[in-house]
Amino acid sequence: MIFSKKLMKWYEKNSRNLPWRASKDPYKIWLSEIILQQTRINQGVPYYKKFLNKFPTIFHLAKSEEETVLKLWQGLGYYSRAQNLHLTAKRIVNEFNGIFPKSHKELMKLRGIGDYTASAICSICFDIPEAVIDGNSFRLISRFFGIKSPIDSMKGFKKFKIKANKLIVGQPPGDFNQAMMDFGSVQCKPRNPDCNECVMSNKCHAFNNKKIDFYPVKTKKLKVKTRFLNYLVIHNFKRQIVLKKTINKGIWNNLYQFPMIESNNILKSPNIEFHKTIKEYSSNEVFSIKSTFDRPITHKLTHQKLIIQFWDIRLSKNSTLPFDKEQALSLPVPIIIEKFITQFYNTLN
Ligand code: ADE
Repeated sequence: MIFSKKLMKWYEKNSRNLPWRASKDPYKIWLSEIILQQTRINQGVPYYKKFLNKFPTIFHLAKSEEETVLKLWQGLGYYSRAQNLHLTAKRIVNEFNGIFPKSHKELMKLRGIGDYTASAICSICFDIPEAVIDGNSFRLISRFFGIKSPIDSMKGFKKFKIKANKLIVGQPPGDFNQAMMDFGSVQCKPRNPDCNECVMSNKCHAFNNKKIDFYPVKTKKLKVKTRFLNYLVIHNFKRQIVLKKTINKGIWNNLYQFPMIESNNILKSPNIEFHKTIKEYSSNEVFSIKSTFDRPITHKLTHQKLIIQFWDIRLSKNSTLPFDKEQALSLPVPIIIEKFITQFYNTLN
């Protein structure tokens, strides 16, 4: 098959030198793939090294506290991935003596392992010809073959999976999948790919029909919800602050945050909920309360746009609050909160 031959030839010369590529250890491959679902290679590699350094084997990861895992994950977002990583490590250690299942079907039964991760692990580690479908392979296959099925539909996914599973036949499975990933991110990029310098372009449907930007096709526009969050930075004259673990709630579950009040729009002044919330943490009176920025901060996530206001709430008497700076910075917190804490202490007098 021309596609696979050309791709593998390209990969021989252009494969990226990535730290997990020297290994077929499913623990390392799993770890790298979960991290890389969250971020690009450049940012992902340091995280991969940090994790492996702290948890050299799945037994180390399984033994650790969830907070340690979350702290290492900090900055990658989508913290349920880190929680699933930890839960699955424990399960593999407790139920399978630390040995990964060796089939796609069995791998898919583990939390946090879907078709993509299962395919990556079983192709790279066990030479099973199961094609990886990710953003790169969607783009590359849709452009090359002119496949119009929407990539965000189940029907579309199945079509691409069948196609890719035909293309992988006869190729070294792990290399084929990683060649798709490398080619997709280095050559067949989402925007402005250099098609004149592409070894595939003379057979590429999209290129030959001047439709590079048309592929891959999506049906749904992502709905982004706007939320207004007010963080209450309750602090005292001893430079102590309040942080609270978020339990069973949304995007930052199990991370620590300032007490938070959600509003329907940007607040010009504190509403009645503020004092109620402050009272939950301290019976001391409020010395001063003010919004800390002229304009709120906007924080964009995949499905949400967060408009964030931090409120500086200083208590009047010498109260005692849970954390000092050092303790606060050792906790797993969303990156936006960590930035705020650092900045806050720099300006605190
Ligand atoms: N992106 C996700 N996994 C990857 C891998 N194994 N190689 C290159 N890019 C990737």
